[in-house]
Amino acid sequence: MLSTAASRASLARVLASQKRGLHDIVNIPGRPAVSNGPPGRSATTGHVVTVFGCTGFLGRYLVSKIAKSGTQVIVPYRDEDEKRHLKVMGDLGQIVPMEWDLRRPDQIEECLRHSDTVYNLVGRDFETKNFDFKSVQVDGAESIAKIAASAGVSRFIHVSHLNADKDSKSKFYQAKAEGEEKVKAAFPNATIVRPAVMYGYEDRLLNNIAIWSVWWKLNNAQTKIRPVHVMDVAQALTNIFSIPSLPGTLNLPGPSTLTYDYLLALLSTVTYNPPSRAPVVPKPVAAFLAKVAQNVWWPALSPDEVERRYINDSDVSGDWDKVGVVPTEIEDNALLYLRRYRSAENFVRPVVLPPSRENPVSANLEL
Ligand SMILES: NC(=O)c1ccc[n+]([C@@H]2O[C@H](COP(=O)([O-])OP(=O)(O)OC[C@H]3O[C@@H](n4cnc5c(N)ncnc54)[C@H](OP(=O)(O)O)[C@@H]3O)[C@@H](O)[C@H]2O)c1
Repeated sequence: MLSTAASRASLARVLASQKRGLHDIVNIPGRPAVSNGPPGRSATTGHVVTVFGCTGFLGRYLVSKIAKSGTQVIVPYRDEDEKRHLKVMGDLGQIVPMEWDLRRPDQIEECLRHSDTVYNLVGRDFETKNFDFKSVQVDGAESIAKIAASAGVSRFIHVSHLNADKDSKSKFYQAKAEGEEKVKAAFPNATIVRPAVMYGYEDRLLNNIAIWSVWWKLNNAQTKIRPVHVMDVAQALTNIFSIPSLPGTLNLPGPSTLTYDYLLALLSTVTYNPPSRAPVVPKPVAAFLAKVAQNVWWPALSPDEVERRYINDSDVSGDWDKVGVVPTEIEDNALLYLRRYRSAENFVRPVVLPPSRENPVSANLEL
């Protein structure tokens, strides 16, 4: 008797959760969709989102955050192995991998045909023999934006760079600025997001400084940057999705302006490793070595990267309040990402105070 009553109650709960109301109809222009189920991973929000560039550093955190709320995510990939970790980020059937090529408009169209929102995270800060800066950051961005517009996609969110500037000495920053213009022309309501250099588990900032400190001493390590936590940027991109319309450009720099000198000292302090004794390489020598390295192994230091090491980050103010995120300081997250560079005997040692920002000397020296 008791079990019948209990099963009736649970049936009633299930039916109540399945009941759809007017408020469940998601308002996507031209594409009515119905949300279903309780909030969370197993629900369906009714949205379908395509994330181009999902296989990269920022992409994985964005896909995870979007899929967690029950949105179906199309994940275009080039290499079979690059999308495997994304598959488990959503409920069954919610993560849909699709093979694509940036130069195949038909494949781009297939990837976004059913989507109401498209993110473009595609970018590469070095050139390869197949793709130069223009073909990825300008032509690629333009073609995705154009196809999204003609397919009736209602939101387009394009990730650029804080230092995007047509007059920059860096070809990468020039291409990012040109890409923004092409996107705006093709998709006038697009949201352009400009994060500063990001740090996190798979970053090319803290990991690279830990391994190749010599390349971070260019310009006497006095270049100023505004590093931002990748999780903060991913959260900002996720929040944009729930704001009905946000056309324009959003700058997302980190909360503080720091020198590479400070980051080198911070790294040494957090890892208990001695401060780097690498010499300061003159710019022409670094540029020459980078040019040679390019012909040997692509992800090595590129000539354009040498140029970028001499360019201070733009000092524009951040637009974090528009996306409801408070960016975190690098000192609060550094241990999480740098502990792996500690030796076994120092692995569980407590964190010492960060070095002074004005006079950055590794705190290790005092221990
Ligand atoms: N990381 C930073 O500090 C930083 C700072 C500011 C702005 N950004 C911008 O933010 C975006 C995401 O950055 P990220 O760090 O996540 O970059 P990432 O790790 O290098 O990933 C880039 C993504 O773009 C894809 N991609 C690159 N070239 C491609 C091509 N020719 N054809 C198709 N796909 C291509 C990659 O696909 P594969 O996996 O197949 O190679 C990958 O999914 C980029 O636009 C970047 O410029 C990054």
